[in-house]
Amino acid sequence: MRSTRNRAAGLIAAAWRDPTGFDMAGVESLFRPFTLNGLRLPNRIVMAPMTRWSSPGGIPADDVAAYYRRRAENDCGLIITEGTTVDHPVASYSSRVPMFHGAALKGWRRVVEQVHAVGGRIMPQLWHVGIARRPSQDYPNRHLPSVSPSGLFLPDKKPVAPPATRAELRAVVEAFVKAACQARKLGFDGIEIHGAHGYLFDQFFWAPINRRDDEYGSNLEGRTRFAVETISAIRSAVGNDYPLLLRISQWKEQDYAAKLARSPEELRALLTLLAGAGVDAFHCSQRRYWEAEFTGSDLNLAGWAKRLSHKSSITVGSVGLSGELSTRGPGALGQPSAIAALDGLLERMARDEFDLVAVGRALLADPTWARKIREGRLGELTAYTPEALERLY
Ligand SMILES: Cc1cc2nc3c(=O)[nH]c(=O)nc-3n(C[C@H](O)[C@H](O)[C@H](O)COP(=O)(O)O)c2cc1C
Repeated sequence: MRSTRNRAAGLIAAAWRDPTGFDMAGVESLFRPFTLNGLRLPNRIVMAPMTRWSSPGGIPADDVAAYYRRRAENDCGLIITEGTTVDHPVASYSSRVPMFHGAALKGWRRVVEQVHAVGGRIMPQLWHVGIARRPSQDYPNRHLPSVSPSGLFLPDKKPVAPPATRAELRAVVEAFVKAACQARKLGFDGIEIHGAHGYLFDQFFWAPINRRDDEYGSNLEGRTRFAVETISAIRSAVGNDYPLLLRISQWKEQDYAAKLARSPEELRALLTLLAGAGVDAFHCSQRRYWEAEFTGSDLNLAGWAKRLSHKSSITVGSVGLSGELSTRGPGALGQPSAIAALDGLLERMARDEFDLVAVGRALLADPTWARKIREGRLGELTAYTPEALERLY
């Protein structure tokens, strides 16, 4: 096996020959190993969690296992699965989204086996959608009201469900703990909690739709309490030596301009509470990774999270693509996106602004994306088009 240094030299040489003309100097910064709470990752590339609506009845079948294996065997250092719902009656918004309980666990075991068979690493993204269940969707237990802080999906709309009771919140915490323990038992390399994009935990974080005046609302500490209780309970159950990621975002599917934190001080307050509960790494979702989070510095959200929390961080958002994710309207996810240069990302990576880089649509379109980047075969990359969503490949 070639040494890392020789391989890096080979990569840079390959970059000079790259027909796209992109400057790939520094690409080796993406292919340095990284250790996350004892888990050694061969490189810095992470497959971002992406719902595929391809698990009928909530059960991931062999095609799902093959889909993840394909990315693992092509140099994707860590896979975070699509959101998979915990064992709570109103956790899901689609019967085609995989569950993480009951009969689905056999399918997940197969996924882990397939990814591990090729030396890959994988974590499930554990999910509860809260108030994001829409009447137009097909999901289990439609007769039951959704669970959320105040029954609001958007600040300017009327509540569509009663505020969650303390007993309901306890049941959700237990469902997350159960899922985390199952993940460890099945051999997953860690877990990610979905605390972003306007789903359950984020509904608590986001003041405009968390109108509670009890201990789960009122102020930042109150709005963070439900996530803190869940993470602390998971940490006690799985032990200190099991990697635990938390995905957070300022933006919401309901409102791209939303902000949880308007200043580094506000972000520090939020992250300190969450880090104290047992988070190992913050997965900081942006739609464009190159956007500065606060004025006066070019650090992005993951950059600030790493600096303020002293935990590891993952960036994401239009890596390798020219157009950002759009999840709304008739053209949702429908915009094709050309291949874009990585030089800005590589500069940030080289100065360790963040530790890991998650890649979404580029890896949907091209399961060999990481391998081609490593080998400098940029001219062979496949651009993202919505057809990538039509099948699991
Ligand atoms: C089809 C699709 C499904 C997604 N599903 C999830 C999900 O289940 N959980 C999540 O946290 N983010 C989800 N996302 C967001 C991605 O993880 C990622 O943050 C986003 O696509 C931006 O990265 P990209 O520009 O590299 O695609 C999804 C994105 C896409 C395109």
